[in-house]
Amino acid sequence: MTAAAMESTIVALLDPGKGILAADESLPTIGKRFGALGIPPTAENRRAYRELLFTTPALGEFISGAILFDETIHQRATGGEPLSETLARQGIIPGIKVDGGTMALPGFAGERVTQGLDGLRERLTAYRRLGARFTKWRAVIAIGEGLPTAACLEANARSLALFAALSQEAGLVPIVEPEVLMDGDHTLERCEEVTSLALRTVFAALFQHRVALEVILLKTGMVLPGRDCPRQADRGEVAWATLQCLRRAVPPAVPGIVFLSGGQPDVVATERLDAICRSGVVPWKLSFSFGRALQDAPLKTWNGSPAKVAAAQAALHHRARCNGLALLGEYSDLAEIESKVAKATP
Ligand code: 13P
Repeated sequence: MTAAAMESTIVALLDPGKGILAADESLPTIGKRFGALGIPPTAENRRAYRELLFTTPALGEFISGAILFDETIHQRATGGEPLSETLARQGIIPGIKVDGGTMALPGFAGERVTQGLDGLRERLTAYRRLGARFTKWRAVIAIGEGLPTAACLEANARSLALFAALSQEAGLVPIVEPEVLMDGDHTLERCEEVTSLALRTVFAALFQHRVALEVILLKTGMVLPGRDCPRQADRGEVAWATLQCLRRAVPPAVPGIVFLSGGQPDVVATERLDAICRSGVVPWKLSFSFGRALQDAPLKTWNGSPAKVAAAQAALHHRARCNGLALLGEYSDLAEIESKVAKATP
C-alpha cells in the first residue's frame, strides 16, 4: 500500500463529525467490564457483544473507524460474515490494537512499559490481509511522587516509534497513544506538564525513527486534574490546558489528534470534547477515539441479554451522535436529551 492509500485512510477516519470507536479491550480488560455486570467472560459473549456494537443501525453516521482486538478480527457475525466486513459495510474502517499490553518496568516501581514488538512485522501483514487499515499501540504513563521517570518515558517512546515505523512500512496508519493516567491527586498543571513531556519525548523518537508525521494519528488524553485532586477543573479550564499543551508539543504536520476518554463519565467526556472543539483554530483535525465513554451505556443496557440488543444499540448510537455533534460544535444539553428521545426504543 502506498502513502496515498494511508493518506486516504486518514482522511476517512477524520471525516468531519465522526470519530473512532475503541472496542479493542484485551481479554483481561473486557473480562473486568463484563465481570462488573456479572456477564460471563466467554468468547461467545465477547463475539455477541462486538456484533451488537458493529451492527448498530446507522453507526457509520458518526463513527468512521473501529479498533478491534486480535480475537475479534478473527470472529464472525451470526450470518457468518467476518466482523471486519460487517464494519466495512457500515462504512466504518476496521483497525487493530497490536500492542501486547504492559509489563512492570524493571527497576522502576509503579511504572510500566508496553510490549509486543516481537514478530510485529509478520502480524501486521496478516492483519492487513484480514482487512485492517490502521493500528494502535498504547503506552501508559503514571503521575506520582518522582514519576514519570525519564527511563519510562524514553522506553515507551522508543517502542511507540518502532511500532509506528513498522505500521507505515506495512501500509497501515499508526495511532500513536501515550496515555497519561488520571489516577492520583495531581493538579491540572501537573498533568499538563507531564503530558507535554510525554509528547515531546514521543515526537523526538518518531523523528529519530523516520516516521512520517503526515500519516500518523496521535491519541492522547485531555489534560485533567487527577481523579483524587481536591480541586477539579471546569470544562473551560480543561479545554484551555489541553489546547495549550497540544499546541506546544504536537507538530502541525500531524493530521489529527483523537482523544481517549480515560475513565471520565461519558457525558462529561462529551462536554469537555465540545469545549475543546469550540476553542479556536488549531493546526490538526480533532476527534475522539473513545472506549468507555462510548460503551458504558450500551454495555450496561445489554447486560448479556439478547432481548436488550436494540436498546443497547440505541444507547451507542446516541453517545456516538452526541460526540459527533461535539466535534462540529453543535452539542448542547438539549441535543443530549433530544437524540436520546429520538432514538429511544420502547
Ligand atoms: P478509553 O476511552 O476507555 O480510555 O479507551 C480508549 C482506548 O482505546 C485506550 O487505549
